[in-house]
Amino acid sequence: MQRWDAQQYGQIGGFVPDLAADLMEWLAPLPNERVLDLGCGDGRFTARLQATGATVIGVDCSPAMVEAARSRNLIVEEADATALPFGYATFDAVFSNAALHWIRDQDAMLREVRRVLRPGGRFVAEMGGHGNIAAIRVAFAAVLERYGIDGDAGDRNYYPTARAYEEQLSKHGFLVERMVHFPRPTPLPEAGMFGWLNTFRLGILDEIPTEKRQRVLNDTVKMLLPVLCDEQRRWIADYVRLRFAARAR
Ligand code: BEZ
Repeated sequence: MQRWDAQQYGQIGGFVPDLAADLMEWLAPLPNERVLDLGCGDGRFTARLQATGATVIGVDCSPAMVEAARSRNLIVEEADATALPFGYATFDAVFSNAALHWIRDQDAMLREVRRVLRPGGRFVAEMGGHGNIAAIRVAFAAVLERYGIDGDAGDRNYYPTARAYEEQLSKHGFLVERMVHFPRPTPLPEAGMFGWLNTFRLGILDEIPTEKRQRVLNDTVKMLLPVLCDEQRRWIADYVRLRFAARAR
């Protein structure tokens, strides 16, 4: 299970909402439209959505993130994406950024999104796509194995191809209007790969005894240095995105 430290995420993960800024154009929210922000995190993007004049509700399963988002004066529910606390056809649009790849039961989540969306409503989202953070995954898994930890535990996220996800969406009653799969090399803030691992791999790191944890971090960073760090020692993470706009039939 991933654990989120909202303060750490606020410092390290600011690029997540910032780099998805143009996703707003894909959603094109209208004033007073009812929009669900699924996996809203600390609410940074949710606040931007609300500023457009839409009526926005955020949902996240992390209590720390819900608390952080509520501190921005947003309406946020703590809930699982596979069991949403809303009735049939509650929303005109469901939006999601960098959250869908964390959800294990994609079928249950897509069923829920379809249920809470009115017929004709939009589902606009961006998530990790096939090949996402491939170098980070391989290095982290190899180092975990070196220390006697199951490497698969290092990344249980789901990064589908465009074709696979289009099939998933259509199976669940969505008509895909636009979908793109593209690399997004992502410069990391000052804290570099240590900061990234300590933020986005906090759940698994929590389970490793302290003395081993530092060695796991050091070895992973060392392994990634030649491939993800540039001449100025700036880290660039190998993100790949899958972005889509679909309509509920
Ligand atoms: C992503 O946004 O693609 C992502 C971020 C952290 C961990 C895994 C995936």
